[in-house]
Amino acid sequence: MLQEKITQYTEEINAFSTAKAAELEQFRIKFLGTKGIIKDIFDEFKAVSPEEKRTLGKVLNVFKQLAESKYQALKEQSTETSAGKEEGLDLTLPGEGFEIGSRHPLALVRKEIVEIFNKLGFIVAEGPEIEDDWHNFSALNFPEEHPARDMQDTFFIKKGGEKGDIALRTHTSSVQVRMMESGKPPFRAIMPGRVYRNEAISARAHCFFHQVEGLYVDENVSFADLKQTLFYFVQEMYGEGTKVRFRPSYFPFTEPSAEMDISCTICKGAGCQFCKYSGWVEILGCGMVDPNVLENCGIDAKKYSGFAFGMGIERITNLKFEIKDLRLFSENDVRFLKQYKTTLI
Ligand code: PHE
Repeated sequence: MLQEKITQYTEEINAFSTAKAAELEQFRIKFLGTKGIIKDIFDEFKAVSPEEKRTLGKVLNVFKQLAESKYQALKEQSTETSAGKEEGLDLTLPGEGFEIGSRHPLALVRKEIVEIFNKLGFIVAEGPEIEDDWHNFSALNFPEEHPARDMQDTFFIKKGGEKGDIALRTHTSSVQVRMMESGKPPFRAIMPGRVYRNEAISARAHCFFHQVEGLYVDENVSFADLKQTLFYFVQEMYGEGTKVRFRPSYFPFTEPSAEMDISCTICKGAGCQFCKYSGWVEILGCGMVDPNVLENCGIDAKKYSGFAFGMGIERITNLKFEIKDLRLFSENDVRFLKQYKTTLI
């Protein structure tokens, strides 16, 4: 009688399998509970004959162990996945998986700019975003009280440091000063980084943006070197056949100074809304480093000459990806950022 019962229950236990917490609990109550089957069987066992006890005793212990280990195994399984607590969970379903992030379009374009200039032997130089007056203005030939300082509405932080007022840098030309002060020519470097200007935020202006400036100082560096370097950059960045033109301009730290336009990458020069139907878009400022700047940084301006240029990465990116609103770059809307997943990685 008892033997038959044990055989039957053994089959039942062997066939039992679930990750559902409620069913597992029922199993525990049914077999292992204080009023459960194992308790009953042990009670019945007390009444059997001594000969039967010898054989049945072993069987009974094996049966008890089976029920306990089955319960333990299923319990572990369900807590491992922590899914067992919930009803009706299908553990065989595939997981949710991780979405691979994407690079920010500005980071993609900065990387591309750096790679192009690397090919020409320009290294990357970096400097602090919190600058003093000397590195951001004075060494760069911005005279005191000169209106040129107003060209770059500055966020001032503290008045009167050792090297003048402390402010958020308005351009990465400050890194050029730091580089020239602490080394010896030749210099051939680009300076990518974030810069700050006190402007009202709109589709076309922001209180911070990103620049890549460049500096090349050596003996006999000429404006022709500047033009050829920038022409090469534009062909690499926007494709061969992209035209460039230079217009005279003014910067305190370069003489002569120029602004460079390229043929509109969107309409290919035919005229569109983006280029205001001119066929041209401005992408950077440049010029020959003013001898005063070289001397301010301890470089012999009679022996050395150099060129410098500076561009906004946002602008270069606008033309590359036709992003028309600057604010998109800093809002971190994932729907916007996701679009650049497969580009230029
Ligand atoms: N520093 C200038 C700006 O921020 C750009 C520039 C750099 C112009 C080097 C000429 C030479 O607008």
